[in-house]
Amino acid sequence: MQSIKQVLSGESLGQPVSIRGWIYRTRSSGGIVFAVIRDSSGIVQTTVKKGDVPDENFGPASNAGIESAVEVEGILAEDDRAPGGLEIRASSFKVVAPSEPFPITEYQSTELLLDKRHLWIRSREQTAVTKIKAAMLRGAREWFHENDYVEVTPPMITAVAPEDSTTLFQIKYFDRIAYLSQSAQFYLESLIYSCERVWALTPSFRAEKSRTPRHLAEYWHLEMEAAWVNNDDNMKVQEELVTAMLEHAAAGCRAELQLLKRDPASLRKISPPFDRMSYAEAMDSLQAGGCEVSWGSDLGAVEERALTKERETPLFVVNYPKELKPFYMKENPEDSRTYKNSDLLAPEGYGEIIGGSERETDNSLMVDRLKEIGESLENYQWYLDLRKYGSVPHSGFGLGLERMVTWVCRLEHIRDATPFPRTVARVYP
Ligand code: 4AD
Ligand code: MG
Repeated sequence: MQSIKQVLSGESLGQPVSIRGWIYRTRSSGGIVFAVIRDSSGIVQTTVKKGDVPDENFGPASNAGIESAVEVEGILAEDDRAPGGLEIRASSFKVVAPSEPFPITEYQSTELLLDKRHLWIRSREQTAVTKIKAAMLRGAREWFHENDYVEVTPPMITAVAPEDSTTLFQIKYFDRIAYLSQSAQFYLESLIYSCERVWALTPSFRAEKSRTPRHLAEYWHLEMEAAWVNNDDNMKVQEELVTAMLEHAAAGCRAELQLLKRDPASLRKISPPFDRMSYAEAMDSLQAGGCEVSWGSDLGAVEERALTKERETPLFVVNYPKELKPFYMKENPEDSRTYKNSDLLAPEGYGEIIGGSERETDNSLMVDRLKEIGESLENYQWYLDLRKYGSVPHSGFGLGLERMVTWVCRLEHIRDATPFPRTVARVYP
């Protein structure tokens, strides 16, 4: 048994090959069936001629609709009209399981494709996205391993709200209330005192009511935290990590990227250092471009798009005003209105893919900020403890994996960056 990718390499030209997979498209005319077969590695045309295959094969072969599971044996031959320029002339064509009429045909509404998501993920585009995402994750995992980061397993059930208490998913936890994690940051911060450099890949949950092309209610969050690292070094880690992830995607998923109309070379030319711009400079640039913003305005999708749409490489925006960011960030000693933090914006208009900062080490400042936003201190005592027993300068960040995939795969909507998107409108299938 060969993979279709192996078959398409052509090394078995003129020789017998055997494959198994699913019918991608099929038509028959007279005594011949042209069936394109798909497996996880690609598609190849097969021709099934009456008389060339056992008699009991031909009827099922000509009746089998798309998505029927099949096993094919035959001789690999050249054919200019076939995808990849090769076809298999079948000597055996077994229908392992016929498919009922497949509910997805060529032109379908977005809603139908979401209702039939468990079937739509078989599409070539979705398969390419899934593989590119896996390559990026492999790149990240290797980078962390090579740089002495320990992978850790924080909880997903928590009592704290690191980011925004208005977007917490509340759950009944025995006889009290708990929340689904928005970020593993506080747990990673706890682990740096033993492991120094840690990272985790976990689902994060945000009860985002707004329907936007860049928000999911559940997404995969790649987070790191490291002791003795300041905000500048934190940004260097981000540059290197992102570059390693892009490199893995470009090297391992050429064909998949091309299928999605992403030139792998455009990813390869991204390397450290990335451009940096302060929030204040971002305001100036936006104002010069006609955006109605002023100091204190948040950078939403529109503003981030304006800042990045002409760019081909990522951009750091640093030193946001405190009122726009969470309580745990380190005050900027050069301008106490701002934090030592950065957002990394993907180019081509895609916007924020990472949020990171140096962490505040002064408990009194954090207590004041928590009180200001009306948080009960009770749930944060353990977090504040971390600053009492050998506190050290440290930094970390969180990368939204589907945000990065949306950019790398040039997707219009973040829901296509994950097989089973969870949004305000959808929890099925
Ligand atoms: O900027 P955020 O909220 O930062 C944090 O959660 C920090 N505690 C991370 C840390 O320092 N350890 O989220 C981090 C990233 C964002 O840059 C974005 O890429 C992604 O998570 N993100 C989302 N992705 C998809 N859907 C959503 N609703 C997202 N919200 C944030
Ligand atoms: Mg953010």
